[in-house]
Amino acid sequence: MNKIVSKKQLSADVYEMTVEAPLIAGARKAGQFIIVQIDSDWGERIPLTTADADTAVGTITMVFQAVGATTHKLALKEPGDHVENILGPLGNPTHIEKFGTVVCVGGGIGVAPLFPIVQAMKKAGNTVKVITGARTKELLIFEDRMRRFADELVIVTDDGSCGRKALVTEPLKEYCAGKPKPDMSVAIGPPVMMKFCAATTKEFDVPIMVSLNTIMIDGTGMCGGCRVTVGGETKFVCVDGPEFDGHAVDFENMMLRMRSYKEKEDEDHHKCHVDLGLDN
Ligand code: FAD
Ligand code: FES
Ligand code: MG
Repeated sequence: MNKIVSKKQLSADVYEMTVEAPLIAGARKAGQFIIVQIDSDWGERIPLTTADADTAVGTITMVFQAVGATTHKLALKEPGDHVENILGPLGNPTHIEKFGTVVCVGGGIGVAPLFPIVQAMKKAGNTVKVITGARTKELLIFEDRMRRFADELVIVTDDGSCGRKALVTEPLKEYCAGKPKPDMSVAIGPPVMMKFCAATTKEFDVPIMVSLNTIMIDGTGMCGGCRVTVGGETKFVCVDGPEFDGHAVDFENMMLRMRSYKEKEDEDHHKCHVDLGLDN
């Protein structure tokens, strides 16, 4: 049982929740994730990233978007309540080194897992240029946090309500076309965004790491639910990733697999809203 110590709503459906988890706080590294079970040993297991941690007090911070049944249930918990189980840290840490100039791209909720990577890249001595994007101003998160670590921050929104009216690939392309071009790039966000970031960087021969968020169940390499095709080989995102060479990922196959349980998820989501008396 992990006690919730604070909760903050960051945007329409995005919540920041800090929970007691001293062992994970001390061990987690950028790029790793946890598996959370909200209410019981039989509840759905969902992967989330530790966006931040405080080793002095032994807490981790999760930032999540309420998109379906389980994340909505988590969003309804309050400080003082408990989360039944948290397993982690899982997955491989991000490969951090002094590359030179690194462009980090985050879309939507992907901005939260990108934050520890931005911190670590900066700490390793890189010049870090960050691009964050969202559909609209209300959905943008982590601007202040990113400003503290980024050498440059470009904000884009689909509707132009904040920053540039553009998709993240536009400033990414400009950075790639600049001289000198970036030595490394990282993208975390919706699969389609990562797919187009990979295509953009490939054109300029700039390497890109993407963090894949596939369906996961055990998170330890046993169920095969998270499998993807990378460079023609089957990989398990939970143990081989979650980060991969974006130029080698078969995004079409991954997006198809992520829709596998859509009908059941929508059914659960609807049932959860009826049970909890929520309106939409
Ligand atoms: P559902 O209605 O069940 O699902 C909504 C969508 O979420 C699905 O269509 C599917 O694409 C995805 N999803 C559903 N179940 C799972 C599952 N068991 N595993 C993975 N994806 C699933 N989200 C955040 O908001 N913040 C994070 O920091 C974050 N980090 C992640 C790190 C990793 C390594 C992975 C794999 C995913 C991460 N996610 C994160 C995504 C998060 O796990 C899903 O949004 C969540 O599981 C949705 O569950 P739900 O029941 O609320 O919604
Ligand atoms: Fe089961 Fe990766 S989540 S093998
Ligand atoms: Mg679910």
